[in-house]
Amino acid sequence: MAPRFFGEAAQQLGAAGMLEDPKKHRLVIEKPFGRDLSSAQVLNKIVRQVCPEEQIYRIDHYLGKETVQNLMVFRFANAIFEPLWNRQFVDNVQITVAETVGLEGRAGYYETSGALRDMVQNHLMQLFSLTAMEPPNSLDADSIRNEKVKVVQATHLADLERLELSAIRGQYTNGWMKGKDVPAYREEGGADPNSTTPTYAALKLYIDNWRWKGVPFYLRTGKRMPKKVSEIAIQFKEVPYLMFQSAAKQANPNVLALRIQPNEGISMRFEVKTPGSSLRTRSVDMDFRYDTAFGKPSTDAYSRLLIDCMLGDQTLFTHGDEVEASWRALTPILGIWDAPAPPEAIPLYEAGTWGPVESELLLNRDGRRWRRL
Ligand code: BG6
Repeated sequence: MAPRFFGEAAQQLGAAGMLEDPKKHRLVIEKPFGRDLSSAQVLNKIVRQVCPEEQIYRIDHYLGKETVQNLMVFRFANAIFEPLWNRQFVDNVQITVAETVGLEGRAGYYETSGALRDMVQNHLMQLFSLTAMEPPNSLDADSIRNEKVKVVQATHLADLERLELSAIRGQYTNGWMKGKDVPAYREEGGADPNSTTPTYAALKLYIDNWRWKGVPFYLRTGKRMPKKVSEIAIQFKEVPYLMFQSAAKQANPNVLALRIQPNEGISMRFEVKTPGSSLRTRSVDMDFRYDTAFGKPSTDAYSRLLIDCMLGDQTLFTHGDEVEASWRALTPILGIWDAPAPPEAIPLYEAGTWGPVESELLLNRDGRRWRRL
């Protein structure tokens, strides 16, 4: 059903006595959970009136992805990464969720949602919190969810005074993709011809805690991008002094890339000596691929989540406090992006490109650039 009925449906299930048994009855709610902080708070209040948090399962299908679950294993089952996972060694973190698809006939929903509500507040914030959270005390649902809530509560847009320096939106125009002319967002069936709904969003976030103070987390997502690719890249700091000649004529910092999809895997980029008499360096990748290591496709995210729900395991479901914390972090942008605006207010990008030029500037201003994917 449409998200606007979630509260009413929960109330009616409660009134009909269908949520009474904590051992058997569960309330499963798909995203979007609210459309801003206040509506999420209202919805949380309503659902908590009909059943306790232990019976509420807020689905974010990204948490059901094998590679997303692996984030915790990778971080906390290996000794060598954790000592580097902080402001001393990490220069910046880039989280990309790029899609090639466009509106896919979902104008009714997407026109009221846009990239920030459809992808950032939920899927990207989940990737973000799992990457940035502190090690939980144990693997039980509460310990993990508490750490995620804590890190999101400490997160804010990089520049709250000048939001244009922390948040970029964009909308695709027509363009060529895989040999086909694809229509502009505004020409898609059901979309407003003057729509300012963002199909692209890029953010720069900071986390105010001891581990991450001052390290920018750049998040981006868009539709009609050149490739479908989701990735978390931990970019390490440059060496303090480069003694060697690099093939790229500059130091190439180490990058650890966690590929969420497709080509699920992990790669580590480092410098090696190029063969030959001169002492020159080049970047190479050490690569782990799920398909070659395990040879079987991963389970569908929703199947995994629904089985967990039936088993009563809330680990891979979003806590109400986390939903509110992530809406709170995005609130300053919502106010501006939701305000009625003329069509030219939103930067455009051609379908089949990596988003508006403004998103490049978001990093260039900091002397950085988005990873070429
Ligand atoms: C959904 C969004 O939650 O996630 C869609 O509503 C988006 O707009 C989809 O296309 C992406 O999911 P995945 O698993 O293909 O990355």
